[in-house]
Amino acid sequence: MARGERRRRPAPAEGQRTVERVSRGGPGRQGGGARGTAGGAALAVVVLALALALSGRWVLAWYRARRAVTLHSAPPALPPDSSGPAAAPDLFWGTYRPHVYFGMKTRSPKPLLTGLMWAQQGATPGTPRLRHTCEQGDGVGPYGWEFHDGLSFGRQHIQDGALWLTTEFVKRPGGQHGGDWSWRVTVEPQASGTSFLPLVSLFFYVVTDGQEVLRPEVETKGQLKFISGHTNELGDFRLTLLPPTSPGGAAPKYGSYNVFWSSNPGLPLLTDMVKSRLNSWFQHWPPGASPERYLGLPGSLKWEERGPSGHGQFLIQQVTLKVPFSVEFVFKSGSAQAGGNRALGQLTGSLLTQVLDSHVEAFRKRFEKTFQLKEKGLSPGEQVLGQVALSGLLGGIGYFYGQGLVLPDTGVEGSEQKEDPILFPPVPLFSGVPSRSFFPRGFLWDEGFHQLVVQRWDPFLTREAVGHWLGLLNADGWIGREQILGDEARARVPPEFLVQRAAHANPPTLLLPVWHMLEGGDPADLAFLRRAFPRLHAWFSWLHQSQAGPVPLSYRWRGRDPALPTLLNPKTLPSGLDDYPRASHPSATERHLDLRCWVALGARVLSQLAEQLGEAEAAAELSPLAASLEEQETLDKLHWAQELGVFADFGNHTKAVQLKPRPPQGQVRVVGQPQPRLQYVDALGYVSLFPFLLRLLDPSSPRLGPLLSLLADSRHLWSPFGLRSLAASSPFYNQRNSEHDPPYWRGAVWLNINYLALGALHYYGHLEGPHQAQAAKLHNELRANVVKNVWRQYEATGFLWEQYSDQDGRGMGCRPFQGWTSLILLIMAEDY
Ligand SMILES: *[C@@H]1O[C@H](CO)[C@@H](O)[C@H](O)[C@H]1NC(C)=O
Repeated sequence: MARGERRRRPAPAEGQRTVERVSRGGPGRQGGGARGTAGGAALAVVVLALALALSGRWVLAWYRARRAVTLHSAPPALPPDSSGPAAAPDLFWGTYRPHVYFGMKTRSPKPLLTGLMWAQQGATPGTPRLRHTCEQGDGVGPYGWEFHDGLSFGRQHIQDGALWLTTEFVKRPGGQHGGDWSWRVTVEPQASGTSFLPLVSLFFYVVTDGQEVLRPEVETKGQLKFISGHTNELGDFRLTLLPPTSPGGAAPKYGSYNVFWSSNPGLPLLTDMVKSRLNSWFQHWPPGASPERYLGLPGSLKWEERGPSGHGQFLIQQVTLKVPFSVEFVFKSGSAQAGGNRALGQLTGSLLTQVLDSHVEAFRKRFEKTFQLKEKGLSPGEQVLGQVALSGLLGGIGYFYGQGLVLPDTGVEGSEQKEDPILFPPVPLFSGVPSRSFFPRGFLWDEGFHQLVVQRWDPFLTREAVGHWLGLLNADGWIGREQILGDEARARVPPEFLVQRAAHANPPTLLLPVWHMLEGGDPADLAFLRRAFPRLHAWFSWLHQSQAGPVPLSYRWRGRDPALPTLLNPKTLPSGLDDYPRASHPSATERHLDLRCWVALGARVLSQLAEQLGEAEAAAELSPLAASLEEQETLDKLHWAQELGVFADFGNHTKAVQLKPRPPQGQVRVVGQPQPRLQYVDALGYVSLFPFLLRLLDPSSPRLGPLLSLLADSRHLWSPFGLRSLAASSPFYNQRNSEHDPPYWRGAVWLNINYLALGALHYYGHLEGPHQAQAAKLHNELRANVVKNVWRQYEATGFLWEQYSDQDGRGMGCRPFQGWTSLILLIMAEDY
């Protein structure tokens, strides 16, 4: 998935540049050139010409750099301020911090953020393990949203050793500032009937990023009553931590309180700051019980200035008590309360339970109405899987704001490595994320798949997300493939991977939900597409032009790794299929099949869109392009490898490459005989299927039969757990790319491509043609295999995974991965 940072290692191919070198200057390279023996008109002319050429090059570089970080001038796809509380009050607050176990924030460049940390006291000697941000290796899990409707409520379960936590929230609209909300956090012992009841601290915090005012209201004993505050966007508000009760809110329970208040040290530093303030002077001593020591924050409220770097405030309340219990945390908006919410009663206790229950009920009904899993005969367990897939995806939606780093396109391949990255303008992004623990930020090609699921549930959310992504378009029509916006996002990415290259593309999957909008014909979607059209068009045109291949109607991914001696096959991160084998020797003669198919799909969608919207000029340009790209003869001429019997990439290639141990360097690539030459690339796998995956073949195409046989053959792509990314018969199958680089797209089963394959089988299974029956049969078998395995792995581990082993089906890579693996829901619903 074009995620270089997945490999936790220094990146040899990416160079060792650091972010500190960010500067805005153009490249100050000066030629050595004419040494000055003065005299002679000819020499003067030469010098002058050289100077002009140099300055011309400099001006061009400067111009390119400016354009790389200039936002596109087309009107925005979303109305201005569309994220604000006035335009979209219902979406103003949300769980838009997917990388924390539980937290909410506002859709604002300067948000108010709230969050939860917790720790089991006395479980480990010394500092307790403080839980806050989702981590792969912290031992927490499984965890994830049981319900989340993307808008108004959610319920999440988290297993943490002996503890079982449930975090719930519900929003109540009202007023002009985004309304009210309530949280309930319930902690119970993991095993029922256990006699050991651990002592647990919950930490509820609120943090501001500058403009906001927080005023803690203190009781006589220095204890916090509530926090009141005011911001322009939120108006007046009040946050209250209610006294703990037994689970669900009946009987009161005894809790010990601590509190800490300081300037905001920076969002990535919150966990460490809390850890460093915990001390052991405290006793939890409920009446009638024996005292117990615990680690706590200071006992009473005192402002602590953190020095000049602090912007805004950080206020955190700790409540410590014995499990089981519930604690509620309530946000009341002044204008919502005055506008009628007060009369509805405080959203706590039994009323909160009631409201949550009615949301769950409504969710279940709407879920079945939308996806019809029960009606289609899926088991209760599979229905739960579908509901969890949707909820995890919606609960993973984040709101980010900040500046990315860009390496401008120099026009000369590879030379951007020598440039300095420059800052992109500050931009907001509302987007799903692939993984809350490992990839908690926006990824361009993942997002197209995410929105396929989201739009079935709530098309408004998809318009918001696609509209935000199109807002990232630069003057050339480029969108960076990984969006690392804001301090929290940046803190989680190694410096060498922060930079996005303006010459590199990524599959234009956002066109998949756009296609669905176009076919659905919802008037709100069409109105959105009308506004978005100039941006979609610019984005597509950039892709089509910038990634043009060596011959007309061929395309080539820019930005393959250079041929380093340590790499078995230089990676192609822009393609999204990172280490999928390509031509062994990267060169400008390459033609990439998957890219050509993406461009063909783009031309098809864009030309249909242009026609439907009456964009005559664009239609006149796009329709002929779409037609040429769909011509079977050209596709055959450029990509049909007669000798292999499949479609393939073309380039300077030899199969005779191997990694061999060469002390002291370690493994190095050895090229044997035959030497590389221009030919089709023998790498059977997902790439070979693309004309079929994107439904570019005519049902009567003579190529369809061979592709279906390849797909259905267990020596090649078919596994009992889904289609493998690379044929088991390939010499690259499950091969490492270097000593430090395990196989990624070299055999494992990926859900996004299996979804496309199922969609295509379903499509050809419904169209008359010589392969109709075979396609329909394969669809049913593949669907059953994929569903069975994802369900089995979920049942065993409680997670959806990044990829699945083609050998035993086990979940691999990072988890939870509720990005495109959530497509399992649409697969179950047979909704393609
Ligand atoms: C293919 O690569 C080899 C090794 O880099 C090179 O010597 C040869 O000239 C290349 N062939 C073509 C046709 O580009």
